[in-house]
Amino acid sequence: TADVTVTVGPTPLADVPPRLFGSFVEHLGRCVYGGLYEPGHPTADSNGFRRDVIELVKELGVTCVRYPGGNFVSGYRWEDGTGPREDRPVRRDLAWHCTETNQVGIDDFYRWSQAAGTEVMLAVNMGTRGLQEALDELEYVNGAPGTTLADRRVANGIPKPMGVRMWCIGNEMDGPWQIGHTSADEYAAAVDRVAHAMKLAEPGLELVACGSSSAQMPTFGEWERKVLTKAYANIDFVSCHAYYRDHGHVTRDAAAMQDFLASAQDMTRFIATVAAQADAAKAANGGERDIKISFDEWGVWYADVWNAQEDRRMADSASGLHTDPWPVAPPLLEDVYTVADAVVEGSLMITLLKHCDRVRSASRAQLVNVIAPIMTVPGGPAWRQTTFYPFAEAAGRARGDVFVPRIDSPLVHTATYGEVPAVDAVVTWDAATRRGLLLAVNRDLARAHDVAVALAGLTAGAAGDGSAATGGGADAGVSAAAGDGADASASADRTVAGGGMAAGSAAGAHLAVVR
Ligand code: AHR
Repeated sequence: TADVTVTVGPTPLADVPPRLFGSFVEHLGRCVYGGLYEPGHPTADSNGFRRDVIELVKELGVTCVRYPGGNFVSGYRWEDGTGPREDRPVRRDLAWHCTETNQVGIDDFYRWSQAAGTEVMLAVNMGTRGLQEALDELEYVNGAPGTTLADRRVANGIPKPMGVRMWCIGNEMDGPWQIGHTSADEYAAAVDRVAHAMKLAEPGLELVACGSSSAQMPTFGEWERKVLTKAYANIDFVSCHAYYRDHGHVTRDAAAMQDFLASAQDMTRFIATVAAQADAAKAANGGERDIKISFDEWGVWYADVWNAQEDRRMADSASGLHTDPWPVAPPLLEDVYTVADAVVEGSLMITLLKHCDRVRSASRAQLVNVIAPIMTVPGGPAWRQTTFYPFAEAAGRARGDVFVPRIDSPLVHTATYGEVPAVDAVVTWDAATRRGLLLAVNRDLARAHDVAVALAGLTAGAAGDGSAATGGGADAGVSAAAGDGADASASADRTVAGGGMAAGSAAGAHLAVVR
């Protein structure tokens, strides 16, 4: 018998935003070089991109990819990556202390995106650059032929404007590690100016202002208030970034693992705080339009690159100079994920869906090799991490509208978040195809839970006429729920022991359950 009940009501929260299943590609480690791009690889296409990786990206269901950073963008000159490869400059990348060969740039990434079937989302450099360079890049990328920069793109083999709509104005500009990091007031004025000018060029752009680098930053909240109030008229999104990890993974501390499993509590609070600041900015401007959230970096991240950088700085400080050669695309942040990590990422995906009235875009960070669901072996195969599966399950099947169900669940105790429901869940329903999806997660380290799912409210309301459903529609399970008030039920076994989110099927309704 079920100890958890998931009850779906008739009122949808919002439509499923396709961009919620976005990802992130940064010039960092082996994400681009050796990940997307490996010209000598047996599967490489004529542009040098690995076809096996492209196939996995399609299988993952990624819709939109943010590029080229991340911290990298704050020192990037976009034009370095255009034109004949042999003429491109080689630069020092201060963000990751690597050598950037520029063998991949905007044009190449655009071609890759076309092959992968993904939308491009670009970030402009607000660290070492600003307004003029952002406008130049926009003209190069989206301009109609007939002006110098647009014609340069045409000469580089891309005759039509790329049509990139979504642009991030900088990256994590509050972070002391960021090249050109700045104060909230300075960034607020700068993002307002850049966004205003970009929209003079193209009013239909969707522009993202940097939020705080994380909810742990000392200026979190105040940064959002200042930036969003100043730039309200010209921006559409504010960014959120959050990474989680099991702080007890070395010592196998059960309490830390239980906290980790409940990481979505933090994401929920984070979204609520940023939404409140966005609403305050809207009120202060007497506005009518909501600023949306672009959760454009999220995921599980263990590798401690910051300590490695600190160690190097300490070593360098002995001589005061860094004169060693900087590596080209070394392996960095190549986390290998566990089943528990996949459970948490599934739980975070559920949370994004449950807030998709506000979170209209999200990018799981990153896509290949760097804290990624897809890994590559040089010259060899590409493979899926555990974290690949919950993302693919949601991206492949969540369509139509999102329903936030009522969940009656036993609570589990966490040190950080207090008592939290053991089970979390979300439902999507596509009226056009009459297909639904239930994503559920068991966050209880100690025990399994049996889940009963009541779909009657859904079929009575959003799914339309119950009679058509009972009359033998595509979803027999949903029909039964509508006609008889019957419940679908699924068993959720131990989260950690058995493995992440697996797709199952109960009474015709597609269920994703934790085993
Ligand atoms: O995704 C890795 C890094 O995390 C990004 O470059 C930066 O934006 C964030 O701090």
